[in-house]
Amino acid sequence: MENISRRGFIESGTIAALGMSILPMDLLANNQTKKTVRIGVIGTGGRGTGHVGTLLSIEGTEIIAVCDLTLAKAENAANLCEKAGKIRPKVYCKDENTWKELLDKEKLDCVIIATYWDSHAAIALHAMKNGIYPGIEVPAALTVEDTWKLVETSEKTGIPCMMLENWSFRQDNLAVLNMKRLGMLGEIVHCHCAHSHDCIDHWFFDSKTGDQKWPAEYLLKYNRDQYPTHSVGPVLSWMDINCGDVFTEIYSTASASKGINAYFKRKFGNDHPNANLKYRQGDIITSLLKTKMGKTLVINMDMQLPRPYSNRWMLQGTLGVYDEEKGSIYLEGKSPEYHTWESWKPYEQKFNHQWWPGDLSAQSHGGTDYVMLCQFLDAVKAKGPTPIDVYDSAVMTAIVELSGISIAKNAPVAFPDFTKGKWQTNKPWFAMDKTI
Ligand SMILES: NC(=O)c1ccc[n+]([C@@H]2O[C@H](COP(=O)([O-])OP(=O)(O)OC[C@H]3O[C@@H](n4cnc5c(N)ncnc54)[C@H](O)[C@@H]3O)[C@@H](O)[C@H]2O)c1
Repeated sequence: MENISRRGFIESGTIAALGMSILPMDLLANNQTKKTVRIGVIGTGGRGTGHVGTLLSIEGTEIIAVCDLTLAKAENAANLCEKAGKIRPKVYCKDENTWKELLDKEKLDCVIIATYWDSHAAIALHAMKNGIYPGIEVPAALTVEDTWKLVETSEKTGIPCMMLENWSFRQDNLAVLNMKRLGMLGEIVHCHCAHSHDCIDHWFFDSKTGDQKWPAEYLLKYNRDQYPTHSVGPVLSWMDINCGDVFTEIYSTASASKGINAYFKRKFGNDHPNANLKYRQGDIITSLLKTKMGKTLVINMDMQLPRPYSNRWMLQGTLGVYDEEKGSIYLEGKSPEYHTWESWKPYEQKFNHQWWPGDLSAQSHGGTDYVMLCQFLDAVKAKGPTPIDVYDSAVMTAIVELSGISIAKNAPVAFPDFTKGKWQTNKPWFAMDKTI
């Protein structure tokens, strides 16, 4: 099937063919049948186990099989299911390709992929070929070539493919999207976003010994935006990317790499092997992206210097500006004082998205994982389009390799149009809210 995105479903007349004159949201809502979604989880480390917990809290789900390189981690996930009163999933654990056996043997509706970055694309491709919806942890792939394969395989098989970018589902980001869609910020001109998250001591390296953890090898090998999806996820819909506009180029630059060596000197002394190792990864990556319709976006990756967490989302249009880090907004002609910030919170309440029915803060990542997985599973149940489609997943993912190429060349690089021109006629789909 050509272009299987949510837009593809609408355009190709799937709904019309079903004899329905309703919006896709209604299609999904009406399909909340009693059917149980059969799920596989591949990679049951920190994130995969978190997803198992969230999935267990959602009705109508059954985790059929789990897989990890470490038996204890896969068994732990299976135990969690059993303790929750569900069936015990089958445990797969032999080698790094055992996930294939799982996908070939089990009758699954969808698979959650939460392995290391290097296996995401291969698992998702195999899943789609077997008719299984992949929900892929971030980023969906490491190369533009693999990203294209995800797009083309989704189109060919007709199986939607979603990257699990949870920050797109944040309550504040969705309220901003509602306001943008109501035209309250005017015509959008510019956005800024960042992933400022010191991951040195709890992700890249073991904080007790300083030994390398799984992705640290990427810091030795590459100099690029390794983790762009959390920052750029919500921004795509604010900028109408793939539905009215498209990125045309990316120009990235890197600061010197000082943070990793400084961390090891500070924490383990000058003689620790990592204190003097040469890391290629610059501390701050800044990417400037341009769109066909003349918008600009600045993205920062900032993951190896000591600092509090921040995403610094900012959205600016002809009628105002939203600034997440300031917790503020200014709307020309509406804000009480001329050119003066006002508090964002009342707007978040007033323009709350229908996906946020109440306080979900007790759930992981403040409820975003729950909202995201509910929406993903609704799509799986309905055999319909996923909330984030393969094209948006591809745009977020491609920044990884493209930023590295641009830094190496010290020049702008063309951004691929994964929709092959369909951005010009595609209608917005992500998080369309019937209540606004
Ligand atoms: N969206 C978020 O908020 C968020 C948060 C943390 C991590 N992540 C993403 O989740 C993914 C996993 O991160 P993590 O923190 O859970 O890492 P982790 O190291 O805790 O877990 C990864 C697990 O995958 C397993 N694994 C690796 N290759 C495998 C293979 N071929 N077959 C089976 N199992 C395999 C490992 O044994 C490990 O248990 C990464 O893509 C990361 O970027 C996302």
